[in-house]
Amino acid sequence: MAADASKSGKLVLYSGAVEATEMLGAALGCSVRVGDLAGLVGPLGAGKTVLVRGLARALGVQGRVASPSFIVARFHPGPVPLVHADAYRLESGRELVEAGLDEWLAQAVVAVEWADRVAEVLPDDRLTVAMSVASGGRRIDIYASGPRAGAIIQRLQEVLLHGDIGHRDLKFAS
Ligand SMILES: Nc1ncnc2c1ncn2[C@@H]1O[C@H](COP(=O)(O)OP(=O)(O)OP(=O)(O)O)[C@@H](O)[C@H]1O
Ligand SMILES: [Mg+2]
Repeated sequence: MAADASKSGKLVLYSGAVEATEMLGAALGCSVRVGDLAGLVGPLGAGKTVLVRGLARALGVQGRVASPSFIVARFHPGPVPLVHADAYRLESGRELVEAGLDEWLAQAVVAVEWADRVAEVLPDDRLTVAMSVASGGRRIDIYASGPRAGAIIQRLQEVLLHGDIGHRDLKFAS
């Protein structure tokens, strides 16, 4: 994979295949810890759930990953548990808090689809993964809003540049 080695604390990637997006999720799974929250934003079909599938695989959790659209969140037990939440149908962030956001953060990695809908209750220091359809594939902007998330981006960049997780259809973009 060609190196961008951006020092800006932001990564921009292009995924040309479903498997490449899953690989990026897996690389993210190697870069996060319990208490980290990744907010996924982007339109219907952008690939948010595909990315979480890769994340779940890297964390080694149990259960099939699917859009948890009709429940607020799904808890996947495992060595590093994952909570996969979806804010698409929520009226307000309060519902996410009532569903247990603080408890999730205490014991799991938390991925929230449609995070922009509930931004007011999410930790200030979080990772945002913004996905959009571009040139037949997906443009994926990853940025941090604090030092903890900034460290995730650094680890993720290391994994993508020097780890053995990669895919020929996953590239740094700008
Ligand atoms: N490069 C790609 N990366 C991810 N998904 C892709 C890519 N190219 C095509 N797709 C397709 O786009 C769709 C992404 O679906 P996915 O359920 O992940 O979207 P989503 O963002 O979670 O949508 P929703 O908001 O409805 O939950 C899948 O049908 C997948 O096959
Ligand atoms: Mg989804």
